[in-house]
Amino acid sequence: MLTKEEAERFSCTDRETSMGELLRRYWYPVAAVAELDEDPVRPVRLLGEDLTLFRDQRGRLGLIGERCAHRAISLAYGIPQDNGLRCAYHGWTYDTEGHVIDMPFEPACLPLKIPAYPVQAMGGLLWAYLGPAPAPLLPRWDIFVREDFRREIRITELPCSWLQCMDNSLDPVHFEHLHGVYGNFVMSKLGKPPMLTPARHLKVDFDVWEYGIYKRRLLEGQDPQTSTDWTVGHPILFPYILAQGGADQMSFQMRIPTDDTNTLHVCINANRLDPGEAPQETIPVRHDPVEYDALGRVFAPHIVKQDEMAWIGQGTVTDRTQEHLVTSDKGILLFRKLLLESMEQVARGEDPMGVVRDPAKNEPYIRIERGSTYAAFRQGITENYGGVREPATVTRY
Ligand code: FES
Ligand SMILES: [Fe+2]
Repeated sequence: MLTKEEAERFSCTDRETSMGELLRRYWYPVAAVAELDEDPVRPVRLLGEDLTLFRDQRGRLGLIGERCAHRAISLAYGIPQDNGLRCAYHGWTYDTEGHVIDMPFEPACLPLKIPAYPVQAMGGLLWAYLGPAPAPLLPRWDIFVREDFRREIRITELPCSWLQCMDNSLDPVHFEHLHGVYGNFVMSKLGKPPMLTPARHLKVDFDVWEYGIYKRRLLEGQDPQTSTDWTVGHPILFPYILAQGGADQMSFQMRIPTDDTNTLHVCINANRLDPGEAPQETIPVRHDPVEYDALGRVFAPHIVKQDEMAWIGQGTVTDRTQEHLVTSDKGILLFRKLLLESMEQVARGEDPMGVVRDPAKNEPYIRIERGSTYAAFRQGITENYGGVREPATVTRY
């Protein structure tokens, strides 16, 4: 159980707070390349800051403040130019560094500047960095760089703190209950038979490594000498990514802090290309909104949605002064310890865990060892699994 001050320390994403400053040491995806192809100017919000993402007519990317320096109209209405973004109201124009470079109705252009941040494209996504200069390298995680995989991106906006998603990832045993017992309860309410009876967890453990934590589980029926769920595990990339998968199938779930009470959940799934299959030219993106039942509860007919239910079901920011962490929460305790140590490193002017500055580490990409066999899922699946698939309301982009 945390004190009120400790709980706030974990939940606040604003600049000049311990967590806000820590979070500003990392790059985050803020939109998909495919979304900017559809509309080259987009409002985005990251770490409580409202911003404007744009691509000018020469293809240069910009991430600048939300509002025009003249009379503060939103620059989300801006018009891309050869030399930047032109405000819709009176035509002041901004370059990708936030400088005003044109004031059409004035005798001269005043030397004004609005905030601007670096942005880079990688793996079908546009990544932003809001921290102090010099920006670290954008980590070239394998899943975004390898072209021998077929990839797709799924984006969901969540009305809750990013940290609730991470707590869930550090808590392997929930799989048995949330996805087994509760999932089957949802099925029973839909008049359908049970679809998942997961194997029991015999033990869980956690190891700290260079980029975060490996979580490991041993299930009933698995051999501790050979099961990669136990011998390798699957990694949490500090501070906001869950990496899953194995040699031929892998995924990232990224919990991007929009602000204290909202999260952009960006997932990328990748499967090895079939023999003779050409690499993708573009990575497709779809939006997958949270669905609610008539009583305002998250509708959770399959695993992804059950996790969303758990994150949102804790409230926008869970009250950590009231929780009672127990033995199965040891991964959460370890993660909080790393967060606190990293906040202290930032306060001392040091780079926290996982910040990449050495180009050699980034080339050709950062390979992540993954040992997920999905046995908790595979061993428990019933012949009825798949009775309820993706919700029908998915909007495809
Ligand atoms: S408000 Fe932007 S140019 Fe006037
Ligand atoms: Fe889960």
